[in-house]
Amino acid sequence: MNRKHLILRHINPQDPGLEIGPSHNPIAPKREGFNVQIIDHLSREALVDKYRAHGLNTDKIEPVDFIWNGESYPDLVGRHHCYRWIIASHVIEHTPDLIRFLNDCAMLLQEDGILSLAIPDKRCCFDYYRPITGLGKIIDAHLQRCQIHTPGTVAEYYLNVVSQGDAIAWDHPINAHPLQANHTFEEASSYWRTVLSEKIYLDLHSWCFVPHSFRLMVQDLYDLGLIQLQEVDFHPTEGCEFFMTLGRRRSGATKSRQELLEAMQAELREAV
Ligand SMILES: C[S@@+](CC[C@H](N)C(=O)[O-])C[C@H]1O[C@@H](n2cnc3c(N)ncnc32)[C@H](O)[C@@H]1O
Repeated sequence: MNRKHLILRHINPQDPGLEIGPSHNPIAPKREGFNVQIIDHLSREALVDKYRAHGLNTDKIEPVDFIWNGESYPDLVGRHHCYRWIIASHVIEHTPDLIRFLNDCAMLLQEDGILSLAIPDKRCCFDYYRPITGLGKIIDAHLQRCQIHTPGTVAEYYLNVVSQGDAIAWDHPINAHPLQANHTFEEASSYWRTVLSEKIYLDLHSWCFVPHSFRLMVQDLYDLGLIQLQEVDFHPTEGCEFFMTLGRRRSGATKSRQELLEAMQAELREAV
């Protein structure tokens, strides 16, 4: 099964759906007949400018229906419980308040709706040197109602992100090519100071996961009563990403907290 099939495996294209942040690489494009609306933090024109500057093909970028500017997604869309499915591929790690993101998605989903996520595995992308995100930072960001990334996160991101040759993501936890910093210390320092003084939204990875740190986080947030969505399906890392489907009713095999912790430790040992 390729990544598109994995992300679409619980989705009927005719049902009303939402794709968040599809930009240059949509999974469910309107032009392929999906009954979809699009949220992004930039307009189509701004996305084309941004990704053209990165040297990427911008032909697949579709018009954005709702441009997010810090408000809740239900307020932005103006409706509740209206979608049968939501796709967010390589987006959840960008959200300043991950709990709010999941709760906004829950409020937009119909009772039996699902949220399909593709998430970068930090062992196989530019987050390689960054620590995995623990529950504490996720809960604190929510309680502080973060709408932009904190200056500390911005400093951590720009100081530590790396690439391997020209690649910002790779197929194996680590291989023979040396890793090199994506930003100079001066650049990192300037981004950090800008966010500190101007309080702007920079589009970056706030959160870093391996598959079982993510599964554990979802289970803990649900058990703590902070989110309403639970794991419906999970697919381990292929290439640089893993896949998770969430919904209101849990299904599939459950693992104990201890088993999830052990699986997470095994993944982190693999990265060494
Ligand atoms: C790394 S790209 C992912 C693109 C594509 N979905 C993929 O899988 O390759 C992240 C996308 O999320 C959008 N984005 C970033 N932060 C966002 C936010 N807080 N809410 C909605 N979209 C956001 C970006 O503009 C971009 O389109």
